[in-house]
Amino acid sequence: MTTTTALSQDELKTLVGRAALEYVLPGGIVGVGTGSTVDRFIDALAEIKDQIVGAVSSSVASTRRLQALGIAVFDANEVESLPVYIDGADEIDGNGHMLKGGGAALTREKIVAALASRFVCIADASKRVPTLGRFPLPVEVIPMAEKHIARRFAAKGGQASLRLVGGQPLLTDNGQHILDVRGLWITDPLAFESEINQWPGVVTAGVFAQHKASVCLLGTAQGVKTLT
Ligand code: 5RP
Repeated sequence: MTTTTALSQDELKTLVGRAALEYVLPGGIVGVGTGSTVDRFIDALAEIKDQIVGAVSSSVASTRRLQALGIAVFDANEVESLPVYIDGADEIDGNGHMLKGGGAALTREKIVAALASRFVCIADASKRVPTLGRFPLPVEVIPMAEKHIARRFAAKGGQASLRLVGGQPLLTDNGQHILDVRGLWITDPLAFESEINQWPGVVTAGVFAQHKASVCLLGTAQGVKTLT
């Protein structure tokens, strides 16, 4: 009789975090995302830190973790391009379109992703969805526009709420606010991202369709599945 022990979500994150090392080019600078899955990647990256020049980071939190482990962090303006960007996702569909921003780092994540030739998404299998939208859509906004933007989402059937921390509006690394929008099914992520990006006061919509994942390393009970 064969017995299989189900891996915990945390173990799946560790598995994909380590698997992403395969996409890191020796002698290069790697784009690093944000979140608990990326934290596992950073831990694995520290083991090969002597083989890379350093990283460009998408958040203050990832920068701190990278530096604490002895990995040099470069400003995005110091590089022209990156071979690879490695980041997690809140949801990923069958085309590599993602919802991101659960960790409020979506704007810097989009910037670093735009510098990279390849976006490798690392996630546990629970993040794979047929259609984006069950996870509340994060949108970084300029505070004076948040009520107006919330009304525009309401007109599309979405309910936007301001993300709070300890009863106060969460401040992103860029000093802005986050609206989390529930109740939207995003069936055309490319068109949706373009539309929301044009609303005055929107800094970044957490739909990553224009810069979608080129590869997704999905942690499953059977091991790491590579989706391209
Ligand atoms: C942060 C993000 C993260 O990549 C996303 O929230 C997934 O995080 P985790 O790996 O902790 O589930 O977009 O802004």
